[in-house]
Amino acid sequence: MPEESIISLKNINLTLSNRVILKDVSLSINEGEFIAILGPNGAGKSTLLKLLLGLYKPSSGMISIFGSSPKRGNKFIGYAPQHRTLEADMALRARDVVGFGLDGTHWGIGFPSKHKTKLIEKALDEVDMLRYANSPVGKLSGGEQQRLLIAQALLTNPKILLLDEPLASLDITHANTIINLVKSIAKKRNITVLLVTHDVNPLLAVIDRVVYIANTHSAIGKPSEIITSEVLSKLYASPIEVIQTKGRMFVIGEEL
Ligand SMILES: Nc1ncnc2c1ncn2[C@@H]1O[C@H](COP(=O)(O)OP(=O)(O)OP(=O)(O)O)[C@@H](O)[C@H]1O
Ligand SMILES: [Mg+2]
Repeated sequence: MPEESIISLKNINLTLSNRVILKDVSLSINEGEFIAILGPNGAGKSTLLKLLLGLYKPSSGMISIFGSSPKRGNKFIGYAPQHRTLEADMALRARDVVGFGLDGTHWGIGFPSKHKTKLIEKALDEVDMLRYANSPVGKLSGGEQQRLLIAQALLTNPKILLLDEPLASLDITHANTIINLVKSIAKKRNITVLLVTHDVNPLLAVIDRVVYIANTHSAIGKPSEIITSEVLSKLYASPIEVIQTKGRMFVIGEEL
């Protein structure tokens, strides 16, 4: 496995609206790693991604991505935000939604349209959605919409992919389709993946490590090292029980 650290957070503290969200968070992620980001609602998982995107600034500490500070519009980073279920009556075509990946809401500024069309179709093909290129996105299923958002995130040919809950509301079959898709694209393009999820189980076969965030703190390591009663109880500063059975992991007491 490649061992070069491309993302590092050192002693990050983050306070938003007078609330401490993250306290003394340090972690580093190597090139090509597939990381799952776990933790209860409101723990700061999405916030961590936003720090990497330069959307939030830490109150103190240092963040480095490829040796530089985070900055908005970093083409090295592809991002699929949380809760992007596309409205049922949304008339935009799939190809239009993917095209936002190049220029946000600015339609194609700076990109010759032929080149843009080619990039969009390549990304659609990569997520096996080319046949839906002209379909209205509102008509697509949740899993198909997630694939579009991943295609959108891939458009700038990023080296890092930040996916915020791409498995939310998908059944296990469709979740597995997304996971395998992301894994194979990441491997082919040597992309480092940070994927936020509430259930680590479908990902256990593909991830290298997990980042667990709870109670303003974080822990990073292999699932078997981090998702244990001992480590999580320490992280939460309250008793947490982890049950491991048949190769699956269940965290009990997390909602406290
Ligand atoms: N701009 C902001 N101003 C104030 N508080 C914020 C802001 N952004 C996020 N927060 C707070 O930070 C905390 C962490 O939010 P975040 O969205 O990162 O949680 P999360 O772990 O992604 O949760 P979920 O699983 O529900 O998506 C929450 O309590 C949220 O209300
Ligand atoms: Mg979130």
